[in-house]
Amino acid sequence: MKILVTGGLGFIGSHTVVELQNEGFEVVIIDDLSNSSENVLDGITAITGKKPVFEKLDLREKAKVQDFFKRHSDLDGVIHFAASKAVGESVEKPLLYYENNLGTLVYILQELSKKERASFIFSSSCTVYGQADKLPITEDAPVKKAESPYGNTKQIGEEIISDTCKVTPSLQAISLRYFNPMGAHPTVKIGELPIGVPQNLVPFITQTGVGIREKLSVFGDDYPTDDGTCVRDYIHVVDLAKAHVEALKRLMAGDNEKNYEVFNVGTGKGSSVLEVIESFERVSGKKLNYQIVDRRPGDVVSAYADTAKANTILGWKSQSTLDEAMKSAWEWEQKSRTN
Ligand code: UD1
Repeated sequence: MKILVTGGLGFIGSHTVVELQNEGFEVVIIDDLSNSSENVLDGITAITGKKPVFEKLDLREKAKVQDFFKRHSDLDGVIHFAASKAVGESVEKPLLYYENNLGTLVYILQELSKKERASFIFSSSCTVYGQADKLPITEDAPVKKAESPYGNTKQIGEEIISDTCKVTPSLQAISLRYFNPMGAHPTVKIGELPIGVPQNLVPFITQTGVGIREKLSVFGDDYPTDDGTCVRDYIHVVDLAKAHVEALKRLMAGDNEKNYEVFNVGTGKGSSVLEVIESFERVSGKKLNYQIVDRRPGDVVSAYADTAKANTILGWKSQSTLDEAMKSAWEWEQKSRTN
């Protein structure tokens, strides 16, 4: 089975390529290297013993996308990670986000629609729920108005796929709504490589721990949660990667009931910002320098997944604890700084 992984050199993409290759899938990666490095291929090769095929390609170039699919007419499916993901930047540059995240999605779906049968997995986000009325969040919770162009691209992306599937029975698709991915591969050969100042909590913590950042700002401690800080569902990236393989297997086996389905991918457990800091301090043996500051606009109070649907239908469950995920993130941070 031959699978195209777009954005396959990125954080979640590279971990998914490893799990796909471990399960015997043949992988072709497309990446434009805008937020990744070709060195990631070496990490994937060292872990799996197999170098995936790689093509540097900007998916906004429609003619090149069409040419790619002509040259790889034997593809069985696509896992589509390639997208821009910085919430703040999306507010500054909405058209860039709509082009990168939605234009490219349309081009890929146009090509897949021509095939006799194709599987498609989309990287969606728990951001589509906004502040959900009920916790844990189930897949049938209403989608709330997006807080940013980035969030909007995930909502509209899901609608584009759903609308396409309705009129394209040959297309089998799943959107995975990720909660908060973190961590690195246990071999410490691949991990997260944020460019510039990290916006996400865990890389900011590990960079502070290693001395690149002076201190972490904790955005608000007056939220209606147990300790006043926001609660999220932090999932080990390897567990998240494995969910993609299970979703793909479901589509390929024809086990899906409808040709478009949606699954939450989280641990089901909520952790506050202070609990994440405590986890870092436990696994690193270091005190973290942090300070409580004002709330960050747009943050929801609390979000964690009801994972029953993925557990029962995909037969997938996250395995790692927060401390295990944190340990891998910390080891990766230390290793990437000493290289
Ligand atoms: C964010 C996006 C989400 C996107 C995801 C991609 C927002 C509102 N949401 O999720 O749409 O899918 O990134 O990775 O931007 N925190 C601090 N200090 C920091 C950084 C974060 O206290 O320096 C806190 C935040 O307030 C939040 C938690 O840590 O409570 C997690 O933040 P983050 O890692 O940015 O993820 P999300 O905001 O959940």
